[in-house]
Amino acid sequence: MKKASMLTLGLIAIMTSFILSSCSKNEDAMTVVKATLYDSLGGTTMVTDPTNNSTKIEQGRLGIRSVVDSTIFVIAADPKLNGFFKVLLAEVTAGNTSGFAALSKDLTDFLCVATGAKNFTYTGLDMVAAHDPAKNSRMNGKSSGADFDQFIADLVVGANKNKLPSNLINSVGALVNTLRSQVVQR
Ligand code: HEM
Repeated sequence: MKKASMLTLGLIAIMTSFILSSCSKNEDAMTVVKATLYDSLGGTTMVTDPTNNSTKIEQGRLGIRSVVDSTIFVIAADPKLNGFFKVLLAEVTAGNTSGFAALSKDLTDFLCVATGAKNFTYTGLDMVAAHDPAKNSRMNGKSSGADFDQFIADLVVGANKNKLPSNLINSVGALVNTLRSQVVQR
């Protein structure tokens, strides 16, 4: 083979290996930096828990918990949905907030896990059982598609109360909407 063509072949080989190695490095970098919705909500950065100044909480979890708690209050005041939460509301009216605390924790854990958090687990009922009155006596009746739409509308009000940016509200709404067929049972 002539010297010039050997040189050309050598150059092509070097360039190909350079391109291939930089591609795989880019892929590695993309895997490492791929942000979850949980990251966008604040992620694992530790901040002071405003409900207890001596404890720290992941910023993503705090954001989700704040939206969850606001949404429970919005639903409690919404005549279209509050009938489903009859057991919870009777407890709270009687001064017993244990059911509220359990629902807040379970909903927060559920949404943390669903948005990509790594440091929490959801231990409550699966979404079909949680919304089937035969399996969850705290669910007063089966919900319809219209009830589900109203739930999302109340969730948006709850998110806006916490000044969540609209692109994140849309992402949370889209995520919640993927559960429609499990929650809607009539
Ligand atoms: C995708 C939307 C929804 C999600 C992610 C969701 C999530 C949950 C979770 C995690 C629980 C707690 C289950 C447990 O502790 O084992 C729960 C309970 C409940 N959900 Fe939902 N839910 C959704 C939609 C709805 C809708 C549309 C309604 C009513 C129309 C509803 C009514 C209830 C009720 C009444 C309970 C029991 C509350 C209590 O413990 O007192 N949910 N839900």
